[in-house]
Amino acid sequence: MLNPELGAVGAAQDKSFLRIDRLTKRFDEATAVDNVSLDIEKGEIFALLGSSGCGKSTLLRMLAGFETPTSGHILLAGSDIVSMPAYERPINMMFQSYALFPHLTVWENIAFGLKRDGLPKSEINARVDDMLTIVKLKPYAKRKPHQLSGGQQQRVALARCLAKSPKLLLLDEPLGALDRKLREQTQFELHSIIKRVGVTCVLVTHDQEEAMTMADRIAVMSEGQFKQVGRPNEIYETPSCRFVADFIGNVNLFDGKLEIDEPDHCVVGSEHGSFYVNHGVTGTLGMPATVAVRPEKVSLQRDPPADAQHNCLRGEIADNGYFGSFSLYRMNLAGGKKLQIQITHGQRHGELFQRGETVYATFAPDALVVLTS
Ligand SMILES: Nc1ncnc2c1ncn2[C@@H]1O[C@H](COP(=O)(O)OP(=O)(O)OP(=O)(O)O)[C@@H](O)[C@H]1O
Ligand SMILES: [Mg+2]
Repeated sequence: MLNPELGAVGAAQDKSFLRIDRLTKRFDEATAVDNVSLDIEKGEIFALLGSSGCGKSTLLRMLAGFETPTSGHILLAGSDIVSMPAYERPINMMFQSYALFPHLTVWENIAFGLKRDGLPKSEINARVDDMLTIVKLKPYAKRKPHQLSGGQQQRVALARCLAKSPKLLLLDEPLGALDRKLREQTQFELHSIIKRVGVTCVLVTHDQEEAMTMADRIAVMSEGQFKQVGRPNEIYETPSCRFVADFIGNVNLFDGKLEIDEPDHCVVGSEHGSFYVNHGVTGTLGMPATVAVRPEKVSLQRDPPADAQHNCLRGEIADNGYFGSFSLYRMNLAGGKKLQIQITHGQRHGELFQRGETVYATFAPDALVVLTS
């Protein structure tokens, strides 16, 4: 969808559609959002991901205009909107609890905001019709919310938000009210609806799967700050710090010291052995460093590898969980530390590993990430 007001010049000069510039929000004693900056492109779906209380909703509410920043700027298509009242902003927000009007039909719920804005009847009819098609609820237009499933209600709420053609769509925990199974289905539906409409979207979630499947990019937040901003695979595969590595997915962490540091590789020594990693860290030799490895990047074998100088840990299988397409193992290392391992059965050779077996865990140099903060 083209935005005529942005114009070709604006778009060419600056790819940023929404610019958040050194934004801070302090409540009496707490700093809910702490000096964050971010550029979001037109049409991008961006997720703010973090645990409870990290400042996600406060940041979203500042974008919507329900909260006034303590300092900083918000630029939408080049204009600073900080002093613009919420109702004048070309932004629509879907709240954590997206209460539909229970006494109105699906059609009337979607039309509500358009009627209030005094749009001509023909325009309202056309837009509601479009929305019903997009969210695939045309056959349900005459139903009341209580006659719909949770996922269908959620789509009505989204249609109600999109009907006003906002330039920016804000979603606070959009799938929070749905059970797990429905969430997974709805994630993909929601993603394809938003992409089809082409609206720029910032969504808030504490569910990493939701962020990863729905968003083009993610900001991992903690205590009001962005710990890392990147595409889902960047955040998962190359976390920038211990917090992000630990927060996203499962990870094994080994604390040690930096022993070798070259542009294309480094070695970290730990009490469990030595790790050879194929990236440098530009740190100081001897500094504390943590090696992170995802469970699915570990290989297991019964015989000791020929070269066990680096990237090889010996231990005993403590637990094995068989999940059909893969197995999860926990391995006891010396000193009581446990290593989590995920073996996909599509790539498995030979028998499953049994509890009590002595095994060797090995890692490729590109399976490891060294973290220094
Ligand atoms: N109106 C307010 N007055 C005082 N403190 C507030 C207010 N709103 C939020 N806070 C505080 O700011 C911090 C961030 O809150 P926020 O609601 O943004 O968190 P969140 O990341 O959305 O959490 P959740 O996942 O639980 O919704 C919290 O410590 C919260 O207590
Ligand atoms: Mg919140």
